[in-house]
Amino acid sequence: MQFSTKTLAADKLKTACLILPIDQTNKLTGVAAQVDQTTGGAVKAAVDSGDLGAKLGSIALITGAGAIARIILVRYDSENGLTQRQFAETTRQALRAVMGTAASQTVSMLQYIDVEERSTAWKIRAQIMALRELNYRADQWKSKREAANGKLAIIEFAVDKEDLEAAQAAIDQGIALADGVDLAKDLGNAPGNICTPTYLGEQAKLLVRQAKSARLKVQVFNERQIAGLKMGSFLAVAKGSDQPPRMIVLEYKGGAAKQAPIALVGKGITFDTGGISLKPGAEMDEMKFDMCGAASVLGTFKAAVKMKLPINLVGVIVTCENMPSGKAVKPGDIVTSMSGQTIEILNTDAEGRLILCDALTYVARFKPSTVIDIATLTGACVIALGAHHSGLFTQNLDLSNNLRAAGQHIGDTCWPMPLDDEYHDGLKSNFADMANIGGRAGGAITAACFLAKFAKGYEWAHLDIAGTAWKSGAAKGATGRPVPLLTQYLLDQAAQQ
Ligand code: BES
Ligand code: MN
Ligand code: ZN
Repeated sequence: MQFSTKTLAADKLKTACLILPIDQTNKLTGVAAQVDQTTGGAVKAAVDSGDLGAKLGSIALITGAGAIARIILVRYDSENGLTQRQFAETTRQALRAVMGTAASQTVSMLQYIDVEERSTAWKIRAQIMALRELNYRADQWKSKREAANGKLAIIEFAVDKEDLEAAQAAIDQGIALADGVDLAKDLGNAPGNICTPTYLGEQAKLLVRQAKSARLKVQVFNERQIAGLKMGSFLAVAKGSDQPPRMIVLEYKGGAAKQAPIALVGKGITFDTGGISLKPGAEMDEMKFDMCGAASVLGTFKAAVKMKLPINLVGVIVTCENMPSGKAVKPGDIVTSMSGQTIEILNTDAEGRLILCDALTYVARFKPSTVIDIATLTGACVIALGAHHSGLFTQNLDLSNNLRAAGQHIGDTCWPMPLDDEYHDGLKSNFADMANIGGRAGGAITAACFLAKFAKGYEWAHLDIAGTAWKSGAAKGATGRPVPLLTQYLLDQAAQQ
């Protein structure tokens, strides 16, 4: 896929295809009027024919004239503009229409549509991400790769001269973001027999090699090293599996040496059977996605490093399998976490929190300003919020607002959930400092409360992505979320430097 910018001069336009917005009045103004002139009235004739529906986002393909071979007319509303969602949907429709033609190249003018308060750069970035999404295939494991969706390989964004620089930056950003999202999808979609903890460690090293940046480093800890850190809770989950666990630590130094880093902590259960508290069989295959938090950390690093963000970043990924076996941890077992706090494991299927708690203790040594953990943590979060918002848990109002705003801006949203002290009561144990489950009621919240007991010495937020990281059913597959949300948050933080 190639993306470039072009200063708008409709009279000089030579293209296989042009995506052209037409407003609700059918009156041709601005770019539409210019194009109509250069095509000898082809646009007006098509609009007058009534072939372009009145509904927002309606599409009509017409034969162009002169140097413009074809035109995809796209209906929008110049009076009210489009919402972000409408723009995304309209973009997808228009791109699908181009893909349905023989054109391998197109010029887009979609960025001339008013979308809330969004800039030209935002609209260009959104189009790049939409096209990359349409072109994504999880066909790596099929004996024959799937056919491409049409021939479209080049998009040129027409912009006014004063927007050229911002448009080019938006292209770079859009590509970096899409690369990060694709990496998270690829890792999430990879089957559990390929995507093991060892594999994730190797992928992290590959990411660092490919980044070719002296500012990025990675360290992969093996089981002995993890034991040396006294991560008793993490190791308790790992010990039921023949696959050895790994802890992946990424460090990116794009900011000033004295600047405290932002840390991302990811849950990397490469397969969650539930352990001795075995899950039911239905849809258990989807538990290969239980490492999507880890994948989102790697995807976000990929994007942030590519963007050369002027910030310091730490990534900690804890990864293992959750398996039943003669060596597996059992309900009632008591383990000692790296923090020294003891945990009675009442349900071995509540394993995410057991591996994350040690990562949250470990990450404090980087003296981070902010720690965000990302985890497919609870089925209860899916019940609470569905597949639209990720669950956001934090007591820090600024951090909450910043993460919400970032998600809203890029269309990868999260919604605040409570974390009051009262919810901690459910985690009481008669035998250890705490239990690892707090009952069915408010399950996503008690899970977050468990993590809060370990997130000490820094500002912290927890994202429960159990409902958003992958899709089930016919569209089964990883979504790459919340890479856009996290990357936008980092972009916003970098802008404040
Ligand atoms: N990985 C699951 C959470 C999950 C379940 C995500 C279904 C998406 C869909 C997690 O490890 C888990 O099993 N959580 C349990 C916790 C319970 C035992 C307290 C759950 O949500 O059922
Ligand atoms: Mn589980
Ligand atoms: Zn899990």
